[in-house]
Amino acid sequence: MAGWEPVSVREYEKAAEMMLPKNAFDYYASGANDMITLRENRAAFSRLRIRPRIMRDVSSTSNKTTVLGIPVNSPICIAPSAMQRMAHDDGEKATSAAAGKSNTLMTLSSWSTTPLEEVAAAYPGGPRWFQLYVYKDRKLTAELVKRAEASGYTALAVTVDTPVLGRREADVRNRFKLPVHLTMGNFIGAGGAHAEGTKDGGKDSGLSAYVASLIDRTLSWDDIRWLRSITKLAIVVKGVMTAEDAREALRYGVDAIWVSNHGARQLDTVSSTIEALPEVVAAVAGKVEVYLDGGVTRGTDVFKALAMGARAVFIGRPVLWGLAHSGEDGVAAVLRLMNEELTMALQLAGCTSVDEIQKSMVVHQTAYYT
Ligand code: FNR
Repeated sequence: MAGWEPVSVREYEKAAEMMLPKNAFDYYASGANDMITLRENRAAFSRLRIRPRIMRDVSSTSNKTTVLGIPVNSPICIAPSAMQRMAHDDGEKATSAAAGKSNTLMTLSSWSTTPLEEVAAAYPGGPRWFQLYVYKDRKLTAELVKRAEASGYTALAVTVDTPVLGRREADVRNRFKLPVHLTMGNFIGAGGAHAEGTKDGGKDSGLSAYVASLIDRTLSWDDIRWLRSITKLAIVVKGVMTAEDAREALRYGVDAIWVSNHGARQLDTVSSTIEALPEVVAAVAGKVEVYLDGGVTRGTDVFKALAMGARAVFIGRPVLWGLAHSGEDGVAAVLRLMNEELTMALQLAGCTSVDEIQKSMVVHQTAYYT
């Protein structure tokens, strides 16, 4: 892309679309069914208005915070996204290096196309969590947890919204499959279908067939107890969208709650995450940290989510667009860009740190019409 440096996440997406094979771009970009929630994740942010404060000496500002006690340079963290080597040959290692160098928290997907040990080795000691899919094969699942523990991942983000894979129609149409030169890096030892990553889905998406045959759809809250019994890692539940489930999660002693609709790739027409956030934050009442992902592409989105009670936000697709554009440099550029936007939002709203963002600084657009 000589001569064209994207200036926004949206432009990185356009660049990625031009550079990636259709099979890969569609897999990354798509949401479920009519993609109503996909649009809502973004649109709901745009319906919120910031109430800025002025005259507050913003000559020095900081994006720094902590997430589960880990000091990080930014509340913008990296969500787990599968199969990153489809975006760039360096895949998850590039993401890990870019994250580590900027002291950004990265969550690695179970469905990484690079073994978790190699991803950790790409930047030893960086802030890092592991996203867990619970497989029907519990022995295999427990081994994965042990490996994550041994490689310095400090929390498990247990994905709870995927008993079946949402129907992403582009993937169905493309008969999506992991390209043959790639494998599910965490399952090389297990071999067979686990490692191949996709199954022959016939007329369906190959990933959908993979999930149907291997992922445990009996998953229930008792399994949080099971995970507690096999690991000392912090447990974060990823995919909570209601106050009811937030209360359940608290009853089962989770360490944090991650509001997510899986990038609108699972159940279409669920609400946007920024609209689900307030009820979860209210139910949790400060007992544990709450995070949000979904549709965050601007510094002002981060500002809004934090104002509404999120401790941190996670970004999925923006990282993939940076990775597709220029590997590690592209991921670093996207992180830098979004952090610069957050810094500017802080400055223009009269805050010198993320802790100074007040709830009263964000209102729904209709608040101005009453
Ligand atoms: C995801 N997501 C995801 N989540 C998860 O728990 N495990 C995974 O393997 C994946 N894989 C994955 C692949 C791709 C291509 C996307 C886009 C998303 C969901 C991800 O963690 C996160 O919830 C969303 O991506 C957040 O939304 P944005 O930032 O993409 O809008």
